[in-house]
Amino acid sequence: MSAEQTSLTKAKETPAASGSPLLEVTGLTKHFPVMGGFPFKRQVGAVQAVDNVSFTVGAGESLGLVGESGCGKSTTGRLVTRLYEPTSGSIKYLGQDITHAGRKELAPIRSEIQMIFQDPYSSLNPRHTVGTIITNPMEINGINPPGGRDARAKELLEIVGLNPEHFNRFPHEFSGGQRQRIGVARALALNPKLIVADEPVSALDVSIQAQVVNLLQGLQRELGIAFVFIAHDLSIVRHFSQRVAVMYLGKVVEIADRDSLYSSPRHPYTHALLSAAPDADPDNAAAERIRLTGDVPSPLNPPSGCRFRTRCWKAQEKCATEEPPLIQLAGNAEGHLTACHFPEDGSSKPVGASSVPKARDAAELKPKAAKAEGTPKAEGTPKAAKAGAKAEGKAEAEGKTEGKAEGKAEAEGKTEGKAEAKTDAKADAKAKGEKSED
Ligand SMILES: Nc1ncnc2c1ncn2[C@@H]1O[C@H](COP(=O)(O)OP(=O)(O)OP(=O)(O)O)[C@@H](O)[C@H]1O
Ligand code: SF4
Ligand SMILES: [Mg+2]
Repeated sequence: MSAEQTSLTKAKETPAASGSPLLEVTGLTKHFPVMGGFPFKRQVGAVQAVDNVSFTVGAGESLGLVGESGCGKSTTGRLVTRLYEPTSGSIKYLGQDITHAGRKELAPIRSEIQMIFQDPYSSLNPRHTVGTIITNPMEINGINPPGGRDARAKELLEIVGLNPEHFNRFPHEFSGGQRQRIGVARALALNPKLIVADEPVSALDVSIQAQVVNLLQGLQRELGIAFVFIAHDLSIVRHFSQRVAVMYLGKVVEIADRDSLYSSPRHPYTHALLSAAPDADPDNAAAERIRLTGDVPSPLNPPSGCRFRTRCWKAQEKCATEEPPLIQLAGNAEGHLTACHFPEDGSSKPVGASSVPKARDAAELKPKAAKAEGTPKAEGTPKAAKAGAKAEGKAEAEGKTEGKAEGKAEAEGKTEGKAEAKTDAKADAKAKGEKSED
């Protein structure tokens, strides 16, 4: 890290050693009501987006949240940052219960919990200059850094690998990777202790992903910022997070230290995810992989008992009648919790058809492709990672700014203190960027 970054380390206070984890989430639940009926609308159901989720995040720690699309990762992130009101459960920040804290109560800690959003094209207000985007949160939170807000914003631009002279430019003049760096600078403007990063690299080119992940990793290491790192790329999570929680249909089904989880997955779903992940190692090329078939059931009406049972090759009667508790199984490392009645043996080797007799009913076993498909491991691109932001270059910038932009900015703009305005037509035309679908 640069000298500027080191100076930031000194400026930042480390979280109080209160004995409590930085973040403690217990039984967190979010059910979105579904309204219907005529002529009078009433609640006819609820999307069980997040259901009874518990985890902790220590100071300076990174917890990865992984799982298929729609499993509740973003909702969990937004609950933690209090962008959503929880249905039940509790959220404690440094021991203080903030589950239903009002605006006033939240004010002192608002700046300490920040969010980086998935889509760098819609999460920056196209009408604001980069300088305004970064200084606005300071202004709203009454932060007056020595030297002034503008100087601080320029310093932050440098820290995230952008040219401070870009201060007066607009978001559409940047590439996707550069915009994500602006989002990081905006989050850093308030000296956060916890950042919820919601798929911060999934909308970026593979070559840029490693650079942004390495930037975040540097911030975690040097500034002691804790992360809830949301992703569905297991290799990136492994690179970035010390602990990993696997979610399925609104539930955490397994949580463990990364080494324990990746070497000894006990939940069939974790095992399937890991075995399906691309592996560039030619030694593993011939290994079998479990490919889950069928769609994730609707969170409006999730299966009884274990929610994974409709896709699980090990499911038995008990799985339909009893919900498996999230517990430490015999043989699991300390803190490695699994929710399964009939767990895997913890072997890191992908399961063969012979050891999974019902596999073909619920999952297909396929040889792993010799060539990794999809996103390669972040570790696999060390050169790209070292190259840093400045190496992103114009070519990438030009490529990315040609795509489509979201017509409206998301409520995510709350980090700036204001809801993002709708994209204006002119900026929209210029700012068209690609939004990667999950
Ligand atoms: N505001 C909302 N109103 C109703 N349902 C919602 C709302 N937000 C999310 N959901 C539903 O909650 C479930 C979880 O959504 P969420 O966005 O948390 O998933 P995710 O794991 O982040 O998925 P992805 O990987 O695609 O981003 C989904 O079924 C989604 O449709
Ligand atoms: S509880 Fe049953 S259905 Fe659920 S993951 Fe375990 S074996 Fe599969
Ligand atoms: Mg999401």
